[in-house]
Amino acid sequence: MSDASLTHLRASFFDFTGLAQQPEEVASRARYLQDGVLTLRAGNIVSLEAWTEQHSQAGEMIDLRGKLIVPGFVDTHIHYPQTEMIGAWGEQLLQWLNQYTFPVEGQYHCAEHAAQMSAFFLQQLLANGTTTALVFGTVHPQSVEALFTAAGQLAMRLIAGKVMMDRNAPDYLLESPQQSYQQTRELITRWHGRGRLGYALTPRFAPTSSPALLEQVRQLHEEFPDTWVHTHLSENPDEVAWVKQLFPQHEGYLDVYHHYQLTGRRSVFAHCLHLEDAEWQCLHDTDSSIAFCPTSNLFLGSGLFNLQRSWRQRVRIGIGTDVGAGTTFNLLQTLGEAYKVAQLQQYRLSAAEAFYHATLGGAHALDLDDHIGNFMPGKEADFVVLDPAVSPLQTLRNANCNDIWEQLFVLMTLGDDRNIYQTWVNGKPVWQQTSSPHSGSCCQPVKLPG
Ligand code: GUN
Ligand code: ZN
Repeated sequence: MSDASLTHLRASFFDFTGLAQQPEEVASRARYLQDGVLTLRAGNIVSLEAWTEQHSQAGEMIDLRGKLIVPGFVDTHIHYPQTEMIGAWGEQLLQWLNQYTFPVEGQYHCAEHAAQMSAFFLQQLLANGTTTALVFGTVHPQSVEALFTAAGQLAMRLIAGKVMMDRNAPDYLLESPQQSYQQTRELITRWHGRGRLGYALTPRFAPTSSPALLEQVRQLHEEFPDTWVHTHLSENPDEVAWVKQLFPQHEGYLDVYHHYQLTGRRSVFAHCLHLEDAEWQCLHDTDSSIAFCPTSNLFLGSGLFNLQRSWRQRVRIGIGTDVGAGTTFNLLQTLGEAYKVAQLQQYRLSAAEAFYHATLGGAHALDLDDHIGNFMPGKEADFVVLDPAVSPLQTLRNANCNDIWEQLFVLMTLGDDRNIYQTWVNGKPVWQQTSSPHSGSCCQPVKLPG
């Protein structure tokens, strides 16, 4: 049993071993091992088993008893170039974009700035237990060049794309449709499928896209059908009205994207708060998915996502932070806000369902569930080691938990980045909490191998 290429971790484990079609099914797909052993080899999961005395003969055993290991969190919608403007005051979507977002994104023409912010951004993901994300860059190719370079060095499974936009924004962020096609094409050939990286065609949203630009996106998707499509849909009532004005020939907002064949299994639409019945149906019929971004939707006053309807319509969803409209990189806190959004609509989001969306469900929404999302043999070894109690309040509350469901619910209600003890990517620890328990002080990245 002692094979030098194997790594064994002893801890408590929680994951979902299969997909769910209905919220009532989610808990039955869950697996909880109070005392388990996870075995890894060369970046992949070999097995997850209950601990037995036999395991004590195994070679290297990393003892993490007292910790809870879950699959790495999946953030299905985030903007890395908005990291430095998180928490911008006072505006709703369209004014927020003009006043805060566009000027900050303008700075990413500088490759050095992009490289510095890429490194900072990825450390924020890892410090919060997020091992996979679907990421917006800016219109500048150098923005995603920097991000892919940094994510590749970490061997992260990350999907990103250069924003495509040719109208209704400041000149310094606009490009021609031909330029957009050419630069995007070069990035795809360079990065899509390299290591664990993937490329997402990223038209910002319909209002910043001319028909000619959308035609270029369609063309690229036809040429590279296994790329992702990543954009915004139906976030804010003024935005929806504007799309109807800009595209009067289309039946609605989603029809603009659908017309250019941008719906489908690898298409992820952020927000989807004000959809019409036909749009829900189109998302279902085309097997498109949604990124539900609760902290962003509350922060910008955009609206309440109808989670129950997404189940009813059988549309895949994942959780997105949508930083910098979202107010945290942390998926635990984001799940806590998702719970409140559901409460406002008389829907009771269970801890089981919440953690499903943040792990296997999110992986499924990105069409990555063959690679990540749980601890099944052969999956890639991306996971997060949670410390369930890092403050006096959490310790007290935890002592009053009766089962794993209550413990998980308390984590998503009281938890934050202090609860992320370690983050593992591709079978290696890439981030470690250095503050002592209960101190609540800041986190430091660990030195990376190589
Ligand atoms: N719609 C178009 N661009 C953006 C953006 O950067 N953030 C959000 N939340 N919505 C958008
Ligand atoms: Zn967004």
